[in-house]
Amino acid sequence: MKQKFRIALIGTGYIGKTHALAYRSVNAVFPDLPELVADLVVDIDETAGRAFAAQFGFARFSTDWHDAVSDPEIDIIAIATPNHLHKDMAIEALRAGKHVYCEKPLAVTIEDSEAMAEAARNASGQTLVGYNYLCNPALQLARKMIESGRIGRPLFFRGVNDEDYMADPKTPHSWRCERAKAGAGTLGDLATHLISLSQFLMGDIVGVAGRTYTAHAKRPVASDQAAYRTVENDDVVSVLVEFEGGARGELSSSRIAWGRKNRLAFEIHGEKGTILFDQERLNELEIFETPEDADAQGFRKILIGPAHPPYGAFVQSTGHQLGFNDLKVIEVKNLIEGIANGSPCYPSFEDALKVEQVIDRVLNPQPGT
Ligand SMILES: NC(=O)c1ccc[n+]([C@@H]2O[C@H](COP(=O)([O-])OP(=O)(O)OC[C@H]3O[C@@H](n4cnc5c(N)ncnc54)[C@H](O)[C@@H]3O)[C@@H](O)[C@H]2O)c1
Repeated sequence: MKQKFRIALIGTGYIGKTHALAYRSVNAVFPDLPELVADLVVDIDETAGRAFAAQFGFARFSTDWHDAVSDPEIDIIAIATPNHLHKDMAIEALRAGKHVYCEKPLAVTIEDSEAMAEAARNASGQTLVGYNYLCNPALQLARKMIESGRIGRPLFFRGVNDEDYMADPKTPHSWRCERAKAGAGTLGDLATHLISLSQFLMGDIVGVAGRTYTAHAKRPVASDQAAYRTVENDDVVSVLVEFEGGARGELSSSRIAWGRKNRLAFEIHGEKGTILFDQERLNELEIFETPEDADAQGFRKILIGPAHPPYGAFVQSTGHQLGFNDLKVIEVKNLIEGIANGSPCYPSFEDALKVEQVIDRVLNPQPGT
């Protein structure tokens, strides 16, 4: 009989929907995997949560996350709630012997993140953090190209992650503006994706010097546009980094960049070439390679297709394109494979702690940086 894993999803907001879609699709796209059963869904909003359970075919619903963590039927706890709730849910789940699939960032402070990594070290369950952009076959290809020396020794990484979801100063205050609930602002949100992918491609970050900037110091309270609340974290962050191999980098991220919708983009300059990527065109990777005749030099665009697994599991033709939700399906596949094979998932809590350490070093600079 096929092996089965039962998952409980906590949080049915923006990314909760992407999770639920992935749970429904993963066995259809990857039929050889053990079965994933969307068993229990939890949200403190009972009306929205029950509607979500019905929409996505979860068998059971609760308003209390402890029901999921203590349920002996549940194998995997997925955490898709605001950041400050991740720690207690994850640690309790790990102590109960569950596998934990947690959204990024790990937590709101470095101490909480360290506690989560420590709990994971002492647990039997696997951990996986939702840095879904790493699942893009284009990024796997970029890493393969770097490892095989196509651009020579990588020397410099310039990355941005810009969106405009808070560009309008009238966008209401939310949990994302509170230090206690979100931690850092753009730095703890968009920039974490950039940090995770820069480390995936370039190695660990060992040197950090950064500055944050809050452009909109107050925002209207959602229910009353005449009342304002203070924004407690950053809108924009700029970081200079040094990677373990000696390469340098610049990371820049903004949640107030009008017109930028998901500009998670980077270029890597190597001794012999350059690689370019932009998540707004997530099925493309560009490469410039030397030597090339001076009159024929230029970037070559590679369209992602079945030659770049697991693209072919979704569609058989190049150029027909994966989307954001497909990256989550690949991430859930990786989770199930890791659990079934007993092999560590990437990025685990231990890997994601390295992202939190960069955030901490921007917020709490060491003398001389
Ligand atoms: N991987 C990605 O690309 C990505 C994208 C967006 C958000 N995220 C992460 O996902 C997490 C959630 O973000 P979001 O944008 O979906 O937020 P959201 O505000 O849209 O949704 C949060 C949900 O959690 C529920 N919730 C709040 N407290 C709860 C509790 N105590 N118990 C159960 N449910 C509770 C809310 O009712 C809501 O349904 C954050 O950590 C965020 O950083 C990741």
